[in-house]
Amino acid sequence: MKICVLPGDGIGPEIMEQALRVLEAVRGDGFDFVVEKALIGGCAVDATGTPYPEATSKLAKEADAILLGAVGGPQWDSLPREQRPERGLLAIRKELNLFANLRPAILYPELANASTLKPEVVSGLDILIVRELTGDIYFGQPRGIREENAERVGFNTMVYSESEIRRIGKVAFEAARKRGKKLCSVDKMNVLECTQLWRDVMIELSADYPDVELSHMLVDNAAMQLVRAPKQFDVMVTGNMFGDILSDEASMLTGSIGMLPSASLDANNKGLYEPSHGSAPDIAGKGLANPLATILSAAMMLRYTFNLEAHATRIETAVKKVLAAGYRTGDIYEAGTRSVGTKEMGDAVIASL
Ligand code: IPM
Ligand code: MG
Repeated sequence: MKICVLPGDGIGPEIMEQALRVLEAVRGDGFDFVVEKALIGGCAVDATGTPYPEATSKLAKEADAILLGAVGGPQWDSLPREQRPERGLLAIRKELNLFANLRPAILYPELANASTLKPEVVSGLDILIVRELTGDIYFGQPRGIREENAERVGFNTMVYSESEIRRIGKVAFEAARKRGKKLCSVDKMNVLECTQLWRDVMIELSADYPDVELSHMLVDNAAMQLVRAPKQFDVMVTGNMFGDILSDEASMLTGSIGMLPSASLDANNKGLYEPSHGSAPDIAGKGLANPLATILSAAMMLRYTFNLEAHATRIETAVKKVLAAGYRTGDIYEAGTRSVGTKEMGDAVIASL
């Protein structure tokens, strides 16, 4: 199995190192792999002038799966838009047709106090956000900033075709079918035509999934419900921009965005796996970052792309044990637990494996 590894910027390389050590520790029993590393994001801009170089694109296309750390940092924020690290991420998602972004938000019981919400509101939380990743206002044309009546006007286009909505809808219904059989589709149909179509297509699709209970929620209400009573949700499905926002919100329910993995899949389950968090430039290079989201992303890769459920579960169980044993990086630390750095957290997971 060929894994293209893209450590990226900021804390990316440190957390990736731990994820690779964990993968090495579960090698065997049908899991054998080679790693090919490449540049993406700011480090790629520095080395080649572009955030998604041709060599990276080639390796990513040839690989069976891609494991990514994080991209971005303040030193690249003033570059022209085309050269910003985030563009690398958007480009690889688009080029590889990774339209289905799965972002699970699970609260490990040991971290109930790390959440800013009351423990009883979040304990037992297990939500899956299915975010469409290659359409919407992120990619819609026309876009830009133009001059009009002697002032600048900024514009973007929110656009979804029926087929784009249907294919992400299917992924979400299928996922709900394997979980609690409840799907909440999030839109803004009271204002935006594009999302009226979204709702209509979800309703049409629901005829094929009589065993899944479909509900709808406007995005503003969904944002509120996520902090009011998050356990009402099982699977949520939404467009690219609403999904971006709601998945960050959902991540905080679990105590730390440093815990959340993600998978971005194409129609054949080839995937890009990355932590949901960013490159955390403020703590980069200090050995403080939480590697668990990346380690859990590697577990998702084993499950979704390589069909190695037992290997995936082994890693997830090891992570649970490490939390139960009290190991905590700074982002999830509380009094009475054991404060560790990035590498020690990796060591603990490997020991527990
Ligand atoms: C994410 C990130 C990206 C996005 C950025 C870095 C382009 O926020 O993966 O959620 O908006 O999709
Ligand atoms: Mg985001």
